[in-house]
Amino acid sequence: MTFPKDFDWGVSMSAYQIEGAHDADGRGLSVWDTFSHRPGNIADGTTGDTACDHYHHWPRDLDLIAGLGSVSYRFSVSWSRVHPEPGGQLSTAGLDFYERLVDGMLERGIRPVLNLFHWDTPQWVQDAGGWRQRDTADLFAAYAADVAARLGDRVARWSTVNEMFEHLTLGHVLGEHAPGLKLGMDEAFPIAHHLMLAHGKAVGALRAASDAPVMLVNSYAPARPATDAEADHAVTGLYDILQNRLFTDPVLLGRYPAEVEPWLGDCVADGDLDLIAAPLDALGVNYYTVNAVHATEGPVPLEVRPPEGHPRTAFGWAVVPDGLRETLIGLHGRYGSALPPLYVSENGCAYDDVPGPDGRCDDRERIAFLDGHLQALRAALDVGVDVRGYWVWSLLDNFEWAEGYTKRFGLVHVDYPTQRRTPKASYDWYRELIAGARQLGEQR
Ligand code: FCB
Repeated sequence: MTFPKDFDWGVSMSAYQIEGAHDADGRGLSVWDTFSHRPGNIADGTTGDTACDHYHHWPRDLDLIAGLGSVSYRFSVSWSRVHPEPGGQLSTAGLDFYERLVDGMLERGIRPVLNLFHWDTPQWVQDAGGWRQRDTADLFAAYAADVAARLGDRVARWSTVNEMFEHLTLGHVLGEHAPGLKLGMDEAFPIAHHLMLAHGKAVGALRAASDAPVMLVNSYAPARPATDAEADHAVTGLYDILQNRLFTDPVLLGRYPAEVEPWLGDCVADGDLDLIAAPLDALGVNYYTVNAVHATEGPVPLEVRPPEGHPRTAFGWAVVPDGLRETLIGLHGRYGSALPPLYVSENGCAYDDVPGPDGRCDDRERIAFLDGHLQALRAALDVGVDVRGYWVWSLLDNFEWAEGYTKRFGLVHVDYPTQRRTPKASYDWYRELIAGARQLGEQR
């Protein structure tokens, strides 16, 4: 497999999942602190209070990233470190941490890709209504402006919001993620719009303070009806719109899919869609799996399951590398010249990695997973889809949201009691793949 010489290899992680240090240097609470501390919400009863303690171990974590070669690191900033208190006053100490981190990346030849929001809304914002409130988009833009004012001269690339679809559905409809709400469709759609608006306003704030390119990161999953039943076919169409188009059409086409307009009610004000459709430099594609969709009775009329006939990861997700090719080609086909360059901004898998006697994990399944997905990406390049980069989720095993520490996604094993990091076989494989790809690489 060859890749363009300037292909942007990297890894992705997020603040709450790795940082720990939940009360260090004046950090405020986020919805994930509140949610994870509520008994019953997290599979193993844990929280992100300590996680990988990356807040203190970041130099060695950056060394591990640099050990992969010249790569990008997509990380997220915790809004509650930067604006810890009601009113949104800037905490200098909070930004100091990210400045050390960004400077540490630059010293090591790592390209900082700064994601502003990976689901950890400050609790004070939530207490004022959270994403149900339109004003939250303004609070977010103010936060974006503060981060950009300090780091805009050094960040290689901005990402505004991570996976609005999962944040909306898991956090606000199914109640499985923070803030743990179970809202009906009518209440959920304004949240979708406020997230989109926050993205649009943040793009403006970032552009005003920084020349670095800006991207939005969405998740995509091809959808198949679970059975031949007509009802399953019907809800598969709906699911496809929600997962694959709701957060992309407005950004690239300047309009919501017609099918969801009735649900949006009157929350879309004049001018909103112009803001949301501000030109982007790239679109991030998070891809994990394909979903089979089944019609159900109830407030949410559908349920997703892994399709039959594929191996599964330890999370139970179907391993379908070709779904990545389908996703990339599908985006190219649907949006045509409106589609900016694509980055696969997250892709990876959880397996029950058990270290051998030498402390090493021989995680062959992960290597096969990543290899298969890179072949799928290669196939999309071959038919002319403009994909510029690929970032593995994740460098480290970390706090996997409602699953706690039970799901390991890392190229590097973390022993949580000792905070020892041990690269797995997949880490070495990825490093060699990057080196080989650079050597063999084709000119674009
Ligand atoms: C994505 C999230 C990321 C991680 C992976 C496994 O949906 O963006 O934080 O949980 O899944």
